[in-house]
Amino acid sequence: MNAPILVTGGTGTLGRLVTPLLRHAGHPVRVLSRHGGRPGDGVTHVTADLLSGDGVEPAVRGTELVLHLAGGPKGDDQATRNLVRAAQRAGVRHLVHISVIAADRVPLAWLRSKLEAERAIADSGVPWTTLRAAQFHDLALTMAEKMAKLPVVPVPGGLRLQPVDAREVAARLVELALGAPAGLVPDLAGPAVHGMDELMRGYLRAVGKRRLLMPVRLPGKAGRAYRNGDNLTLDGGNTGVRSWEAFLAERLPERGGAERAAAARR
Ligand SMILES: NC(=O)c1ccc[n+]([C@@H]2O[C@H](COP(=O)([O-])OP(=O)(O)OC[C@H]3O[C@@H](n4cnc5c(N)ncnc54)[C@H](OP(=O)(O)O)[C@@H]3O)[C@@H](O)[C@H]2O)c1
Repeated sequence: MNAPILVTGGTGTLGRLVTPLLRHAGHPVRVLSRHGGRPGDGVTHVTADLLSGDGVEPAVRGTELVLHLAGGPKGDDQATRNLVRAAQRAGVRHLVHISVIAADRVPLAWLRSKLEAERAIADSGVPWTTLRAAQFHDLALTMAEKMAKLPVVPVPGGLRLQPVDAREVAARLVELALGAPAGLVPDLAGPAVHGMDELMRGYLRAVGKRRLLMPVRLPGKAGRAYRNGDNLTLDGGNTGVRSWEAFLAERLPERGGAERAAAARR
């Protein structure tokens, strides 16, 4: 395949990990984002706004394989519909999409828009593959860092997560992209289920901080769904191997993490 592979959101947390893997497999890559990036060996950047649709059609033209990894807090349904229209016109042969575990189970506006995005792709007539992943370790770390700025940390009671390493998600997406369109494939979650309090304590230990954790109740239907564990994939999915503890040890080496990372590898 000589046509470039289009990676929407190729400058983001996940996209930055996917692009080198595609290059390593010998494919030229075209990255679509709003702000662009520095071109590199075999990587070009195009700017387009998936939400407004500006620049999307020319960005997709001439590609056969598209990995749709761009996403934001709002409007992923609309953004995906714009991408799908351009993919239909360009005759794309495989559209690979990253979604979120429980997009169909937890009643939150953000997850509903992910589900609508999934449906836009499934109904597009373009051959497709969708992988739903759990929260990346990076996201759990960002959440923990923000919460630890408070002297007393509110921790949603009963909220459990299965954070996964974004590198494992990237590798799985590339494997799927280079294979045949497969529809909705088994979820990819992390190796362990952690309460939010446990994730928080792990972070505080890793950075050597002490904070009081205060349990709070998540309100409404979404709160009930989280307490029921509807956001988890406990069977029928795949699990990554890199743990939250190993991720913290690697990412926060200044607090004795180098030794912990070595211990986690042993
Ligand atoms: N983070 C998680 O824990 C997690 C878990 C499961 C699934 N996912 C899904 O994985 C995808 C990637 O997540 P991420 O954490 O890598 O996100 P991220 O770091 O926030 O990166 C988002 C990427 O999308 C681009 N983008 C955002 N809005 C755009 C728009 N309107 N038009 C064109 N490009 C746009 C951004 O570049 P510009 O800002 O330059 O446009 C950036 O390259 C998302 O769909 C997310 O829902 C994430």
